[in-house]
Amino acid sequence: MEVTFGSAPVAETIIQECLHRAEGYDLEGFLLGQGAIPAKIMFVGEAPGATEIVEGRPFTGQAGKVLEEYLEKLGLTRQEIYISSAVRSRPFKDKVVAGTPAGVVPRISRSNRTPTKNEVLAHAPILDAEIELVQPQVIVPMGNIGLHRLIGSHETISSLHGKVIEGPILHLEDPDDPRSAYTFGERIYSIFPLYHPAAVIYNRSLESVIEQDLAALKHFLEAKNNS
Ligand code: URA
Repeated sequence: MEVTFGSAPVAETIIQECLHRAEGYDLEGFLLGQGAIPAKIMFVGEAPGATEIVEGRPFTGQAGKVLEEYLEKLGLTRQEIYISSAVRSRPFKDKVVAGTPAGVVPRISRSNRTPTKNEVLAHAPILDAEIELVQPQVIVPMGNIGLHRLIGSHETISSLHGKVIEGPILHLEDPDDPRSAYTFGERIYSIFPLYHPAAVIYNRSLESVIEQDLAALKHFLEAKNNS
């Protein structure tokens, strides 16, 4: 069976492989990336949340509204870019709701959480496959999870946001080996890290920094288009 990313077919086996690699982790659902193929620009987030799993589209929850604002400021639409994330299922955490009377089955509340490094590694084959398919020139990791998946964890988003990095990205060394580690590929990309759209929801003081970063990214994309 084949499924599609946008209009391009991707083997169902890659999805099955990721689901298999992630067995035993607290993850639910599975979401494909969305957008144009090929696309000059690819955005890489962290992982879908509850809303995205229900809607079946990336960035449709609260963070999605902020991403729409990013795109509007950049003069871009979802149709001309590609949006993906490091992890394609929703990482969740269950908690027993306090105050359940004795003798009653306790109520569980489920919340989103940050994916672990192992969860990102488990889903690495699908992001690798998408990057191959989308052939982006510019990759925009949003937040530390996407950034570390692409360039390693020696730097953080707070030191690299708003800057262009011309360099290679990480992919699985041997996609057929379940224990394969990451290695850098040969192709050079323009990598432009941004704060994750959810960051501004929790920290309004980031608004002006993000505004400046988006202006810098817009300027960079315009210059690249004209070169
Ligand atoms: N955050 C992400 O990184 N991806 C989504 O799809 C939603 C929120």
